[in-house]
Amino acid sequence: MQAKTAAGPKLVVEGATKYYDTKSGPLHALDNTALQVQDGEFACVVGPSGCGKTTLLWSIAGLHSLTSGSVRLDGDEVTGPHPQIGMVFQEANLLPWRNLRANIEFPFEIRRVPPDRARIDHLLQEVGLGGFDEKFPRELSGGMQQRAAIVRALSFDPSVLLMDEPFGALDAFTRDEMNLLVEKIWLETQKTIVFITHNITEAVFLSDNVYVMSARPGRIAKVFPIPFERPRTLDLLATKEVFDLVNEIKAEIESSPSPAIAPPAELTA
Ligand SMILES: Nc1ncnc2c1ncn2[C@@H]1O[C@H](COP(=O)(O)OP(=O)(O)O)[C@@H](O)[C@H]1O
Ligand SMILES: [Mg+2]
Repeated sequence: MQAKTAAGPKLVVEGATKYYDTKSGPLHALDNTALQVQDGEFACVVGPSGCGKTTLLWSIAGLHSLTSGSVRLDGDEVTGPHPQIGMVFQEANLLPWRNLRANIEFPFEIRRVPPDRARIDHLLQEVGLGGFDEKFPRELSGGMQQRAAIVRALSFDPSVLLMDEPFGALDAFTRDEMNLLVEKIWLETQKTIVFITHNITEAVFLSDNVYVMSARPGRIAKVFPIPFERPRTLDLLATKEVFDLVNEIKAEIESSPSPAIAPPAELTA
């Protein structure tokens, strides 16, 4: 199955520029970045560490403001946390003194709306956490905690799911399992997903399109459409097509000058 197409893009980032104020002066994190994600698309963003991936995702989520430029969702500008946007971070961020269900219901409490228990129960089953709702975070593996974070993000039924290196801290085997799970959820729900990773194989496995960011100040330097049929299975990862694509994307990332490894200016003067 391919991503469904719609009249206009679901998400439009235009001219996104971000400077952080730091003690040593302004830090240029994003530079005139443009990104368009279609409704129902699975988009992965990859790029060197520190290039501004998290900054871009937080801007899309309305969690911090851009210095200039805009983010639009279904045509409307995103200016703050948005009910149509769910977020999953690298850490599950579960409160240790609350059991799983109480963690998942916590955002509902903050918003003072009753939790959608039927939806939460369905999602818990869907991610294989049925029967674990009374457990505390310390009783769950890292993979299970991230499953709970996915349930929490989807519990409001957002149309967009933003994921910031959600499986970066998991072992390779658990990561594979989580990637299959995310693809299954995406196929069933047709959410629009923007997924950040520095694992290029993961990006190729999951995406309709892989967006490569340049070194900081980041911008989208190139888009790689990923042609493989859905649903994808792990044996795809052993094919020459994936191997070649991963290498092509790697070469694109490495061609971007990295300030971290560039020689100091005084040596090149
Ligand atoms: N709150 C902040 N204040 C100052 N600098 C920041 C802040 N957040 C990120 N940065 C800097 O902005 C750059 C981009 O960071 P980030 O978006 O986290 O990159 P990535 O997610 O690609 O690793 C980095 O140089 C980082 O140190
Ligand atoms: Mg980051």
